[in-house]
This record gives sequence, C-alpha cells and structure tokens, in this order.
Amino acid sequence: MMRKQPILVTCGLPYTNGPCHIGHLRTYVPADFYVRCLRHMGEEVVFICGSDNHGTPIVVSAEEAKISPREMSERYHAHFAETFGRMMVQFDHFGMTDDPTNHARTRKIVSRLIENGHVYSRVIQQSYCPQCKRFLPDRYVEGLCPHCGTPARGDECDQGCGRHLEPGEIREPVCMVCKTKAELRDQEHYFFRLGEFKDFLLGYLENLQGTLNARNYALGWVREGLRDWCITRTLDWGVKFPGRDDLVVYVWVDAPIGYISFTEEWANEAGKDWRDLWCGDNRVTHFIGGDIIYHHCIFWPALLKGAGYGTPHAIVASGMVKVDDHKFSKSRGYVVWTNEDYLDRGLPADYLRYYLLSYTNHTKDLNFSWKVFSERINNELVNTLGNFVYRSLYFAHREFGGIPDIPVRPEVLARIKETIDSVTRAVNQYDFKVAVDEMMALAAYGNNYIQTNAPWKLIKTDRDSACQVIKDCIVLVNALALLFEPAIPQKSREIWDMVGNTVPIEKTALDSALSDLPARPLKAPHPVFQKLEDSFIREMDDLLRKRVKEAGERVRKTETVSIEEFSRLDIRTGRIVSAEPVPKSRKLLALQVDIGSEIRQVVAGIAPFYRPEDLVGKNVVIVANLQPARIFGIESRGMILAAGDSASLLMPFKDVPPGTKIR
Ligand code: 2FM
Ligand code: ZN
Repeated sequence: MMRKQPILVTCGLPYTNGPCHIGHLRTYVPADFYVRCLRHMGEEVVFICGSDNHGTPIVVSAEEAKISPREMSERYHAHFAETFGRMMVQFDHFGMTDDPTNHARTRKIVSRLIENGHVYSRVIQQSYCPQCKRFLPDRYVEGLCPHCGTPARGDECDQGCGRHLEPGEIREPVCMVCKTKAELRDQEHYFFRLGEFKDFLLGYLENLQGTLNARNYALGWVREGLRDWCITRTLDWGVKFPGRDDLVVYVWVDAPIGYISFTEEWANEAGKDWRDLWCGDNRVTHFIGGDIIYHHCIFWPALLKGAGYGTPHAIVASGMVKVDDHKFSKSRGYVVWTNEDYLDRGLPADYLRYYLLSYTNHTKDLNFSWKVFSERINNELVNTLGNFVYRSLYFAHREFGGIPDIPVRPEVLARIKETIDSVTRAVNQYDFKVAVDEMMALAAYGNNYIQTNAPWKLIKTDRDSACQVIKDCIVLVNALALLFEPAIPQKSREIWDMVGNTVPIEKTALDSALSDLPARPLKAPHPVFQKLEDSFIREMDDLLRKRVKEAGERVRKTETVSIEEFSRLDIRTGRIVSAEPVPKSRKLLALQVDIGSEIRQVVAGIAPFYRPEDLVGKNVVIVANLQPARIFGIESRGMILAAGDSASLLMPFKDVPPGTKIR
C-alpha cells in the first residue's frame, strides 16, 4: 500500500502589531484540536504557522511607537509564540514572513507568475497626500467604500460590505496621517490577471474540502466576476517586487506564501522535503477566520496555480467572535485579551479551550460572556467530567489500592467505541463542537454509571460487584482522558498520569481506549478541575463593563468626522406648515415642513413641550436625507434638530427662505 501523504495544517498568520486576543484563539484552538485529534487517529500531521509582518498597519503602528517595523514585528512575534505555548497551541514551526526564506520564496513565485504571463503593468490613479508628500497605500488612506458608501480604510471595507478595495478605488480619499484631502496621481503598478482564473476557480472550489462557508462564499464571488488584482504597493517595508526597488508586493501576496516558506524552514530542520507536503494532490488544510475567505479561496489558489504549484486541499473557516453579544471590537472594549484578562489571572488554558470548542459550531458566531463561560465550565468540566474522574479514582484507590484485577464489562468498551466512532466522524467533517459534545456525553454516561451503581453502598454488601463497577469506571476515566486530550491537553494529561499510564498521552492512539486496563496500584488522586467562583466571575464581568464604558468615552472624545462625511448630511432650514398630534401617542407630533423643494412629513417627539398651533410658521432646522422611518404607522422623512431634554428647537438667527442649506 502507498504511504499516505502527511497532512499539513496551517493557521492564518497573526499581524505583528497588537497582542493576542480571543478572536485569534477562535481559529487557533480548533486548529490545534484538529491536529491533536488527527494524531491520535494515526495520521502524520505537520502543524505550521508564523507571524505576518508586512503591510501598512504594521508600518503605521511602528511609526506611532517610534520603532522600526522589524523591531515591532520581532516583539509581537515573540509575544504570539509565547502566548500560543501558554494556550497549548503547539505548532511544529512558527516563522516570520519577513525572514529571508519568505523573501526568497515570494520573489521566486512572483517571478514565475511574470514569466508565465500572469502579470502586467498599468498606470493607475493612486491617492497621494500633497501635505505628507507621499503615495497613500492601503491603511494610509481613508474615505468611502465605492461599493456601499460606508466609511472605509485602505484595502478593505471593514465596517460595511467587507469587500476588498483596490488602490485608488476609495471615494473621497483623505490622508490617514494628516487628514488632508488626497490627490490622485498617476503611478505604474503591477496586476495579476485574476479574471483569467475564473474557470479554474469554479472547478477548484466545487471540489474544495473544508467548511461549506468558505466554498460557498467564494463560489458566489467568483460567479459575480473577478477583477484583475493589483499586487504592488509603494512602500519600503515588504518584499521587493522583482526588478523594481521602489515597489513591494502587496502583503496578501507574501503572507500566504509564508505557509510554504515556513514549511521549508520546518523541513530543513526536520530533514524532510517541503515539496512532499505541497506538491500535486496535497493534503494542505488552512484554518482561517471567516473574514479572510476571499484571500484564501480566490487570490491564493489562483496564485499557486499560476506559478505551477499544487493548490490547497481544504479551507476551514471559523465564525466570528462576539463579546457580551456585541461585535468583537478592540476600540470599543468588547475584547478579551488572552494574557491580561485570562492566563495572567491564573485561569487554565483548558477552560477557555473547552469553551471555544464547545460553545457553537465552528462556522457560527461564538459569543463570550463570563457568566456563560463559568456556567459551562462549572456544570460540564467540573461537575460532570471532574466529579466522575475524581470519584472513580478515589474509590479505586481507597478500596482496592489501584486498578482492580477484573476484566472490564464488554458493554462499557462498546460504549467507548461508539464515542470514538462519533468523534472520528465529527472531526473528519470539521464538526468540532459535535466531537467535544460526544466526549462530554461519555463523561455524563460515566457519571450516571457510578451514581446509579453507587459503589460506596454496594461495597458494604457485595464487594465483587463494587469492584466491577469501579473497574468499569476507571476504564471510562482512562478513555475520557485520551478522548479529551485534544480539547483540554493539560487536564487530560493529569488524569492520564493519575490512572498510572507511562506512555505519553500525545503518543497514544485513540483505539487503545478499546482495550482493558491491567491491574496496577495507583497513588491517591486529586481533583483536577476547580470551580470558578461567582465572586471572581463578577469581578471579571465588572472589568469588561468598565472597559467598554471607558472605551465609549474615549471614542466619543476622539471620534472626528471628516468634512466629506459631514457634507453627506443634507441639513437645511424648513418652515413648519402644520402640526398635529399623532393618535395614541403622548409624545409625538406629525409636522408638515416646507423644505424648499417640497413639503415633508416629519414625526418629532416634541408634543410635551409645544402646542401644535404655536409651531406653525416657525423656521426650523431639518436633516433632510435621514433614512425614512415609520413611527406609530406614520412615515417620517427627516429629523428636526432640537437641543436638550426639553427639546429647544434650533432656529436660524436671521430669516432665510425654506430649504437654505446649512454649511
Ligand atoms: O487577517 C490577518 O490577520 C492576516 N494577517 C492573515 C494572513 S493569513 C495568510 F494568508 F498569511
Ligand atoms: Zn463597502
């Protein structure tokens, strides 16, 4: 039989300009879980990651911190390497995209693309800041998304439609550094003929393995049509574009190439050939966040194909993270920092790993709240798994000095086999929640088994039967340690050791849980899981609330609106033609307002402060392009401006005709 090719698992590379948070872990923990499961299932796996050092966000952060982008990258690289270790996310290699291997591999691939005719140059109009006297690549420019009109930054409409934005595309561009209105200037850039890969991508995506969200989103985008992709930027920091010292390649070219370069670095150390993992029909599996599906399912396979490399076998895309039911946001305080908020407070990595894996399906949004976190941990890990493990080991030790010398009941092994089969099936379908739930169901079975058979009572009347129950329980405990290892590696190892195993747990095949355990003496056990105290959880919850409040105050203080954004508001004067109470409402008046071009109906919450007849003929100020709304069944198209709690209406100082624009 031909030897199966090893599976190469990678994780999206973190940018080196900020610390690790729960959003990162949403992808890395399941990837690590998957790798550990595969290894227990007998697969050969290489687990590769590294840090993403290039791109404008890192240059901008380094400028602010007054250090070089390299120094910034090295600091955060070390931070991520250490934090992943603390979270037990164990890569075989963790490289840097700014290291020489990646510079060389990127230039090789780009040169190959040029040779193969997939790259052409074109003069485009690029944003230029006349004040800072430089071109404004990506993050240096702010403006409006050309597709949906939402304020956007650089290469991505991250607050709006999520689309990738090409250089020069952003509307009403402003320099991010000095806020000066940008000019458009001609500049030569290089483009990848992405459009020519449409048919290839359609075929490729149909067969792509991994999660369906990745495949289906990407298929939709390809069907909508692909535009050629600008792959150069005017920056010093990055991989130089072959033959052009003034341009670097776009970060989304050299970052995924990092996956190959890091495999090369690993292979050189391990005495292997990286080509074995990347060539032809490979088993490359990329774990990524749901926000970078486009880059991994469209740009990346097209680049690889164009350069004559094998294309990835599977893309596994995770859902997003919410904190307290709010969209994850560092600037708004809806964040959990891995070190500061979690590990540094002495909380076990395994608790968070368990929560991340079991909260919801991999492709759905995951909500973190301290309350739900403590409930899940206390009910499931502490009360179900922890109790069962401790009670079983305690009785085995106290009554029999260790594992009793009696065969396990076959139905217990059959129940373990059912779990192993379901877990294996779920893991192969990237259904990590189902896998972890199956494990917990086995723990619940064990708990129920010991509770119903009550060996502590049985022992007084029927020692042999009590011995049987305890033996069955210890076999279950052993299987649970092994099954749970990918989810909670530290706690599982503790349990594994208490059951007296000497072979390392990571090197043990799942199927070994289907054999009976030999009799052996055991040391006195200790409880492995500690309950999370309510007072501690309240403290953490308060901390989160305080952070959100402070962030809100900061955002309000510092949030500025560009003149372009302000000018999108159509604010004009209006004259109230009539005013009537809105039936069944105590607060609302329906106003007809002459706004110059037409008479507008506006509903305003000012009934407690004005008599309708006093308003007629008054000049007011109105926002005329507010989205229409229905209030108490009446259409309202605009907003009358008023100050303070008693709704003091704003009025023009001098008399002006209705419809006069406010500037
Ligand atoms: O979105 C991000 O955080 C990127 N740094 C991910 C890069 S993944 C890969 F393509 F390199
Ligand atoms: Zn948009």
